[in-house]
Order: sequence, then structure tokens, then C-alpha cells
Amino acid sequence: MKGLFTYAAALLTSASLTFAHGGWDLSHEHAGDVFNYAHASGVSGVLHNGNSTGQIRTINGGMFFPIININEEQSRPKAAILFLTDIFGIQLVNNRLLADSLARAGYLVILPDLFRGDAVPATALEDPNSTYNLTAWFPRHPPSQIDAIINTTLTTIQSTYIVNKIASVGYCFGGRYVARHLTPASPLSAGFAAHPSNTLAAEWEAIASPISLAFGSLDESNTAENRTTIEGIFEQGNKTYQTVLYAGAEHGFAVRTDLGVKRKAFAQEGAFWQAVRWFDEWVKEDE
Ligand SMILES: *[C@@H]1O[C@H](CO)[C@@H](O)[C@H](O)[C@H]1NC(C)=O
Ligand SMILES: *[C@@H]1O[C@H](CO)[C@@H](O)[C@H](O)[C@H]1NC(C)=O
Ligand SMILES: *[C@@H]1O[C@H](CO)[C@@H](O)[C@H](O)[C@H]1NC(C)=O
Ligand SMILES: *[C@@H]1O[C@H](CO)[C@@H](O)[C@H](O)[C@H]1NC(C)=O
Ligand SMILES: *[C@@H]1O[C@H](CO)[C@@H](O)[C@H](O)[C@H]1NC(C)=O
Ligand SMILES: *[C@@H]1O[C@H](CO)[C@@H](O)[C@H](O)[C@H]1NC(C)=O
Repeated sequence: MKGLFTYAAALLTSASLTFAHGGWDLSHEHAGDVFNYAHASGVSGVLHNGNSTGQIRTINGGMFFPIININEEQSRPKAAILFLTDIFGIQLVNNRLLADSLARAGYLVILPDLFRGDAVPATALEDPNSTYNLTAWFPRHPPSQIDAIINTTLTTIQSTYIVNKIASVGYCFGGRYVARHLTPASPLSAGFAAHPSNTLAAEWEAIASPISLAFGSLDESNTAENRTTIEGIFEQGNKTYQTVLYAGAEHGFAVRTDLGVKRKAFAQEGAFWQAVRWFDEWVKEDE
């Protein structure tokens, strides 16, 4: 691997902005945990609590900080995975631990800081009295800006690492961008999204590569009607796709859920292994 990156000594700090709740109800979500409750005990790839092993590096003149997860035991990763986070960004340890898990499954995982340090702070999730203003946050991160960051990251992956293929995973906010970037012009050639938010029909229609989706039955932003619409688009467009519905799982479950509830824990792990199996098949396609 070429060492094009420069290390950044700076620690990421969460946004210090405080606003009132607005636009998006987080009350049904749970700050959660990642893989604390492992069903697949003994199976490598399942992480428990702790810190991420990812490295924070600055690219593109410090415009954003991607976290690079490299499986040190794997000299040649199976492929690269562009990890597009939820609104809590790379600052949320859950996202970083999830990336570690994907790295352990044999992938080179890159998480760009989609929000340039302005991710929604975890306290907006954990504190029931949070006054964080999500209505004000969204317009600060419009699709044009997120798309540009994703494009820069993809260009950097291509020029920096020797990988045959690049896939993308996205959670909530990031899920929409998996759809937006699985187009014929993109270097991405497979995708996985869990509980994607605000994705438009036209974005699903434009998908040109295999896509796997994970939904939770309690997700109010992906209702039965929404899911049927998406599946109809995929069928009509003859897409290569898979959708899985996890019972008892809410919006956000693949990243942050109450692992003390067995079926939520099952859903989180299920969504993780769903992504890994999907990409493992995609990697095999060329062999
Ligand atoms: C995580 O990192 C923090 C700060 O560097 C450190 O205090 C803590 O012990 C680490 N935890 C684990 C489980 O490594
Ligand atoms: C939230 O505010 C309510 C009403 O003021 C208070 O009773 C409760 O203790 C607060 N909760 C936390 C976690 O601060
Ligand atoms: C939240 O932000 C929106 C948009 O900027 C603004 O209209 C609204 O007044 C804010 N809410 C509070 C409680 O500050
Ligand atoms: C990102 O790249 C795609 C091609 O994959 C292009 O269509 C799009 O205009 C680019 N967007 C930005 C904001 O650079
Ligand atoms: C989900 O369905 C509702 C009700 O039909 C609709 O208003 C909304 O736009 C749909 N959401 C998405 C992301 O397609
Ligand atoms: C649908 O896609 C499959 C697999 O890519 C292909 O074999 C088949 O010919 C396509 N069917 C139509 C009607 O385009």
C-alpha cells in the first residue's frame, strides 16, 4: 500500500453546538452498544465494547478525517469498503467498532468524516433532555457537500490502495448515499444499507450494482409501504438485490440498539453478517 496519507495528531471533537430537538424524533432510539451480546460466540468478527483500532488520517488538506481500518493480519484485503455513517458520524464509537468488525472480516474499511467535525453529538441521543436542534443541522450538510466528500474519498481510495473492488455500507443518513453512489459512473460495485433515511425513489431506480438492505419492523422512516415501494422498484428494474426485515428492531438498530433485548441484539448482528455475506459473494464473482 502506498503511504499517501499524512497522520493527524488532532483528536476529533464533537460539535459544541446546542439546539433544541426538531424535525426528527430520536426518543425511540437507544444510545446502544455494539456487539456486546454475541450470539455467534467464537466467531471472529464480532466485537465487544472497547476502542476502535482504526487510524485517523487527514486527507485532502485536512478537509476531513477518514478513519482507516486495516486488518493487519490481512496483507491483501478482499476489497475496500466505504463506510457512510449515520448522523453521529465517525465520532460515535459504535460506528468505529462496526468498521473494526468489517475490517476483521477481511476488508479495508474507510470512514470519511461526512460532517467535517459537525456530527450530531452522542449526547443528543443519550440525554432525554437534549436541546440539540436537528432541524438546523440538516441544511448544514446538503447532498452536494456529502457527495463531494464521498467522491474525494473514492478517488483517494483508488489512488492509494491496491484493491480490486470497492463497495459501500451506509447506516441511516449514510444509507441514502449508498443508493446515490451505486450508479454506473461510480467506482462502487456493491452496496449494503441499513435503515436508510430519506432516500428518493429516483435514487433507488438509478442503482446499477447489487444492493442489500436491512430494515427493522419498528422503523417509522421505512414503513411496510416504503419497503414495498423499494422492492417494487428493484423488481421492475431487474436489480440484483436482497432485503431483510428484522422484527422488533427500530430505526438505527444496526449501529445502536439495546443489546439487552435479545431480538434487537439478534437484529444488529444479523445486519452485520448480512453485509459480510453479501460482500463475500460479490468478491467471489471474479474468482
Ligand atoms: C479507550 O481509550 C481511552 C482514551 O484513550 C482509554 O482511556 C481507555 O482505556 C481505552 N479503552 C479500551 C477498552 O481500550
Ligand atoms: C430531564 O428533565 C426532567 C424534567 O425537568 C427531569 O425530571 C429529568 O431528571 C431530566 N433527565 C435527565 C436525564 O437529566
Ligand atoms: C431549530 O432550527 C430551526 C432552523 O434553523 C429554527 O427555525 C428553530 O427555531 C430552531 N429551534 C429552536 C428551538 O431553536
Ligand atoms: C460525484 O461523482 C459522480 C460520478 O460518480 C458524479 O456524477 C457527481 O456529479 C459527483 N458529485 C460531486 C458533488 O462531485
Ligand atoms: C414513505 O412512505 C410515506 C407514506 O407513503 C411517504 O410520505 C414517504 O415519502 C416515504 N418515504 C420514503 C423515504 O420513500
Ligand atoms: C435480469 O437480470 C439478470 C441478471 O443480471 C439477467 O440474466 C436477465 O437477463 C435480466 N432480465 C431482464 C428481463 O432484463
